[in-house]
Amino acid sequence: MLNLAILASGRGSNMVSLVEAVKKKDLPVKIVAVVTNKIGAPCLDKADSLGIPSYCLLPKDFSSRFEYDQALAEFLLEKGVDTICLAGFMWLLGAEFVSRFRGRILNIHPSLLPAFPGLEAQKQALSYGVKISGCTVHFVDEGLDSGPIILQETVPVLTFDTVESLSERILVKEHEIYPRALELLALGKLKVFGRQVEIMK
Ligand code: GAR
Repeated sequence: MLNLAILASGRGSNMVSLVEAVKKKDLPVKIVAVVTNKIGAPCLDKADSLGIPSYCLLPKDFSSRFEYDQALAEFLLEKGVDTICLAGFMWLLGAEFVSRFRGRILNIHPSLLPAFPGLEAQKQALSYGVKISGCTVHFVDEGLDSGPIILQETVPVLTFDTVESLSERILVKEHEIYPRALELLALGKLKVFGRQVEIMK
């Protein structure tokens, strides 16, 4: 049984898709907490209405990124968390945090990594003029959106796409592959060899 925390900064639609998948598929996952770094983030209300305890830990209450990461790690460990899903969590976790949960942190990113890491991935894809984009679920390492890739899904980029229309199309796929990746992790079906993630039958 995984003891999972979901970290989110905004709308929380990926958080909702993870919670619903755990319930619907009766996955061996206990969702211990939803944690945000933004005051009044909509994901908090969504977590409440799903019956998941939600918490707000604000960077402004800490003197450095390192201290914030440390407080966050300790908070999660106190709650018994052993696995973390980043779901639109706009904060680059430092190396020490990552090493405390190595191989146990997943992230979803709205591009086909390694293309367009970082902020505004959909805008980057449109500006570059790619014809295909998509989303990626990956393990988190010390870099920016750089850890081993678990699942990817593609979407076409259409001639008259805006950031909003492309983001919407990608989001539909995000809600498919993130729960699937969590399921694979929970069922012990992911084996990591360097950069390769093997999915066991
Ligand atoms: C999602 O599109 C997610 O892929 C993206 O933020 C959005 C959060 O939406 N994450 C990143 O860009 C991380 N680099 P949500 O709050 O509705 O899940």
